[in-house]
Amino acid sequence: MDFTIDADISVARTLPARVYSDPEIFSAQRERIFARTWQWAAHDEVVKVAGQVYPFTLLPGALDEPLLLTRDANDQVHCLSNVCTHRGTLVVEGAGHDTQLRCRYHGRRFTLDGRFDSMPEFQGAKGFPSKADDLPSVALARWERFLLVSLRPAMPFDDMSAPMRERLTGLPFGRLAFDAAGARDYFVNANWALYIDNYLEGFHIPYVHSGLAGVLDYGEYAVELDRYSVLQLGVAKQGERTITLPAAHPDTKRRIAAYYYWLFPTTMFNVYPWGVSVNVVTPLAVDRTRVSFLPFVWDESAREQGAGAGLDRVEREDEAIVESVQRGTRSRLYERGRYSPTRETGVHHFHRLLAEFLR
Ligand code: FES
Ligand SMILES: [Fe+2]
Repeated sequence: MDFTIDADISVARTLPARVYSDPEIFSAQRERIFARTWQWAAHDEVVKVAGQVYPFTLLPGALDEPLLLTRDANDQVHCLSNVCTHRGTLVVEGAGHDTQLRCRYHGRRFTLDGRFDSMPEFQGAKGFPSKADDLPSVALARWERFLLVSLRPAMPFDDMSAPMRERLTGLPFGRLAFDAAGARDYFVNANWALYIDNYLEGFHIPYVHSGLAGVLDYGEYAVELDRYSVLQLGVAKQGERTITLPAAHPDTKRRIAAYYYWLFPTTMFNVYPWGVSVNVVTPLAVDRTRVSFLPFVWDESAREQGAGAGLDRVEREDEAIVESVQRGTRSRLYERGRYSPTRETGVHHFHRLLAEFLR
């Protein structure tokens, strides 16, 4: 893993091909990248009312961490370990509603904020209960309707998301409704980072996405880098649908068709005229990736207009190309490439972050 990505894109070489196919490197990424960064957990409706509990597995295949979202009686949302502090049973097995958490193995009880409450047959145990008998709590961040969590965050969520939150201020997030029927999971036979590489450049749009290329002005496509995020701005061709922005917004003169926001490493917030498509990348194995499309809608009438239309087709086009790259990176005759200094700044930035975290 002793590779570097030169800070100067004009001389830098791309990520070594083995990063995409070596099981040991994938394994190292679990603790070095995924456990230290912010990952999508759920949207706030899964714990909408006090007493609601929502168990989930954080990054199945990469972290496999059993976690639990709860909303307590004071309306506070928590993320807790879902592993009983007695002998390790999963405490909550299905989403539901309760005033307390009770482990079904030997009846240990916890409050909804994770504190140990009671346990039968422990009268003689010394120094019990202690802090170690509470369910560990996990860092939880909230932006609008979206909940993200991190096991050992290397950066505060508010810092990493500040450029995005500021840029998108004034958009009607309060009106978003989750379209459960429109949500889809795609399975891609490729390393997760290849999927991200492809997401982070609009360079391939004219070659791979003929439909999308018809609505976006390729010459105006722009990429902005921040410490742990990348924004790509899709600018609409004349006559194509744009996002309705508040009057004072800095982008009102730019005919914005889409904001494509990526948060290192696996979360994308794509803002379209119809609302927000959250894309969640789950690395299932070194060469297998799940990509979840979660639509949150503020204007159903714009659903099939502009850059936010035909997303299923665009996704299939991306899958086909990314799977082709996965096969190519296994070649004995390919090692590293070079970056376009004008079109691949986002990919370069991502590779720099990967190198930093893997070091
Ligand atoms: S494992 Fe939970 S009470 Fe024993
Ligand atoms: Fe694409």
